[in-house]
Amino acid sequence: MRTELPPTPVVTSRPVDTSPISLTPPAGADLDPIWAAVVPETRTRSNDIHLPISLAYAERLCAAYPDADRLVVRVAILLHDTGWGRVDEDRILSEGFSGDWRKAAIRYEHEKQGCVIAREVLPPLGYAPEFVDAVVDIIDGHDTRKEARTLEDALVRDADRLWRFDHAGIALASGWFKMDPATYCDRLASEIVPELLTEAAIAIAHAELRRSQDLLKTAVLR
Ligand SMILES: [Fe+2]
Ligand SMILES: [Fe+2]
Repeated sequence: MRTELPPTPVVTSRPVDTSPISLTPPAGADLDPIWAAVVPETRTRSNDIHLPISLAYAERLCAAYPDADRLVVRVAILLHDTGWGRVDEDRILSEGFSGDWRKAAIRYEHEKQGCVIAREVLPPLGYAPEFVDAVVDIIDGHDTRKEARTLEDALVRDADRLWRFDHAGIALASGWFKMDPATYCDRLASEIVPELLTEAAIAIAHAELRRSQDLLKTAVLR
């Protein structure tokens, strides 16, 4: 459940799927009971867009890194931001996306609430205590802790960033940060790519960003 994190960026000898993410939606229905349990929490901060797309990226990363515990990664990414559904909504945009937003109190609060939700939702669905602990360890600090502790943690962090490179992520996140899409794409390349922890995620990010920039005509619309 907790695989040691190799040096970063983590290399892979497996093929990496860099095709548009809409071609490989989240696989299977095994997580549907978890989705059903968190529907209200998906209605905040576009979690109903962010979480499923991020899960699709997480599954691609798991295919590139088969040593990782795939179920831990998938469940952790599904639940990681559900805590936004239980914090004061007005503060999400005012504190969560301006100033030193990575250290805003609301960021810590959404992580804590996400851990509470995981502990509420998973045990009644039959997930074992050790599994729930592994998921909670990833959710806790996923935005505010500087370093990834395990390979599973690193894959969740990368999937959480990769969704922004798809045009749906650019559409939503550029609005949150009050940036035009072209400026936001520049920021993805200069600030978010260097934060990625795996070689697979870096390849996917570059491919998605190129496609999104072409699609959105960011060379001209700036
Ligand atoms: Fe988050
Ligand atoms: Fe997230």
